[in-house]
Amino acid sequence: MSVTILKGNIVSAPALGKLDITEHGYLAAEDGVIAGVFDCLPERFASAPVEDWGECLILQSFADLHLHAPQYPMMGMGMDLPLLEWLDTYAFPAEAQFADPDYARDVYRRLAHDLIAGGTTRVCLFSSLHRPATLILMEELEKAGVTGFVGKVNMDRSGGAGLRETTEESMRETLLWLDACGDFTHVRPILTPRFTPACTDELMAFLGALARERNLPVQSHLSENRQEIELVRRLCPACGQYWETYARYGLWTDRTLMAHCVHSDARERRAMRDTGVTAVHCASSNNAICSGVAPVRVMLDEGLKVALGTDVAGGCSLRMFDAVADTVKASKDRRILDSWQTNFLTVAEGWYLGTTAGAKFFGAGNGFAPGDRLHALVLDDGELAAPARPLTVRERFERCVYVRQPDAIRAVWSDGRRVFG
Ligand code: GUN
Ligand code: FE
Repeated sequence: MSVTILKGNIVSAPALGKLDITEHGYLAAEDGVIAGVFDCLPERFASAPVEDWGECLILQSFADLHLHAPQYPMMGMGMDLPLLEWLDTYAFPAEAQFADPDYARDVYRRLAHDLIAGGTTRVCLFSSLHRPATLILMEELEKAGVTGFVGKVNMDRSGGAGLRETTEESMRETLLWLDACGDFTHVRPILTPRFTPACTDELMAFLGALARERNLPVQSHLSENRQEIELVRRLCPACGQYWETYARYGLWTDRTLMAHCVHSDARERRAMRDTGVTAVHCASSNNAICSGVAPVRVMLDEGLKVALGTDVAGGCSLRMFDAVADTVKASKDRRILDSWQTNFLTVAEGWYLGTTAGAKFFGAGNGFAPGDRLHALVLDDGELAAPARPLTVRERFERCVYVRQPDAIRAVWSDGRRVFG
């Protein structure tokens, strides 16, 4: 049996708003499975080698539940446009380039490396509509040590000249792609109708049946932007609300992720809660392309499942540290917009959403739960300016959520394997 023992200041979020902090403690794993967090090393580990990280913070690694892999090269561009114009002008032309497998290989190798170096070990990723590039993305993630779900995007009614698939092509390519996914261990397929404006009813019905037959999870977008919602209303007059355009085809289950949900009203949120759909909050993107400020506090109070996504490249950072900080900041904007009637999210709550809440979509437990595979990172904040008085571990942790420092992540473990540092 291989034993991993990490010594340092261990911080985890076992519940919303709660931090477990063990100073100079031990995080132990056996064959990649967490045995526990201990103040003193149990006798049975007495002869095992200890990796002593000194004063460093040992943290849960991140789960990014929404980002677009082919948009990574255009991150930070076109941010003055609203969603539908930004898609036409920037996102769709960028994704069209992924018809070229060599280009896809270069971009996706870099993306996979950058995810791991940034401490993101679990993902739910949109690829493009291209089957070969999607398989290349899965290969590169697998090689780098990223785990999670990847979707070949289905879109048979938008995209422009370079980014088109017919309904038949979309169905056929999806089946061929699923057939080719068997080779991957840590990266699995997720059905990915881009959003209702991009998918005909026929394609939606096909994907819903496929999700049921093969027991597959689903990811898409919901109520991100007001013009988008209006477009859905025109395209689907039979549906009272946006969410029903997914629900009527079997794409609305407790294994469904819906990104954004900025403008989801009480009825749409109730439909999410009652079914167990996860809302993926994308604070950076919602701000950058001016979609709105999602009511995350209200969603949590109502009992919805909420996790975080960077939404690269509507969002302009791949770093989940930024996603957590942006989530906290957006919740303060929401409080102000709500005339101080809703509470903001604390750093501890934001951290929970970026780690434990996302990991739950993959079946993980709370914080560093014994029995879970080890997903962790070591953070060295030693280069930050030192205040005159010594900081508590909690203060140091909070500062690291807000303040970036290059190369602070010293090591990363994903699914029990050391993948960085
Ligand atoms: N809705 C449909 N496609 C996209 C996309 O690529 N990015 C964002 N932010 N929203 C979308
Ligand atoms: Fe998105």
